[in-house]
Amino acid sequence: MKKDIKEIFFSEEQLAEKVKELGEKITADYKELTDDKGILLVGVLKGAAVFFTDLARKIDLPVRFDFMMASSYGDASISSGKVEIKKDLDVDVRNYHVILVEDIIDSGITMECLMRILNQRGAASVKLCALFSKPARRKIPVNIDYLGFEIPDEFIVGYGLDYAEEYRNLPYVGVLKPEIYTD
Ligand code: IMP
Ligand code: MG
Repeated sequence: MKKDIKEIFFSEEQLAEKVKELGEKITADYKELTDDKGILLVGVLKGAAVFFTDLARKIDLPVRFDFMMASSYGDASISSGKVEIKKDLDVDVRNYHVILVEDIIDSGITMECLMRILNQRGAASVKLCALFSKPARRKIPVNIDYLGFEIPDEFIVGYGLDYAEEYRNLPYVGVLKPEIYTD
């Protein structure tokens, strides 16, 4: 797989360090909660799967797991603007402070939609933790409560992020060689 990568943007060590930092920030903030609602970590499949499992283990508080799958159509490297909920939550969010865990915020369309739905359903609170953000590509403003890295307008793969469903299991994050896209 490494032969397809043009440049590594974030090494395994850099990712681990950032994930630890985010987990510690979340722990410090949510420690203060005084109501009887639990914390629900909601991973957005599939891209956030790797980040989610690492982040969860850096949060030193009782949390529950749930997952949503939302997709914009097709395998293209540009989001289409149509969001479809392919897998919904199992639990009633009214009992929880929700932390949405997403791999990357690009246009913002997916996240704006998911946050709106969870707020409408009456979640105790909804916050967003995203590992990457590409502000140059934003079409809808999204407030990212916990952000790993801002990146330039480049298509990245690895650590959960795919190109046409491949490269998710790379332990680092990089950009593909241009010839991979033109095959
Ligand atoms: P948005 O709705 O445009 O913000 O789309 C976000 C989704 O698009 C992410 O959850 C990813 O699945 C996908 N995506 C956006 N940029 C990239 C990228 O650089 N690499 C891999 N997937 C990406
Ligand atoms: Mg995604």
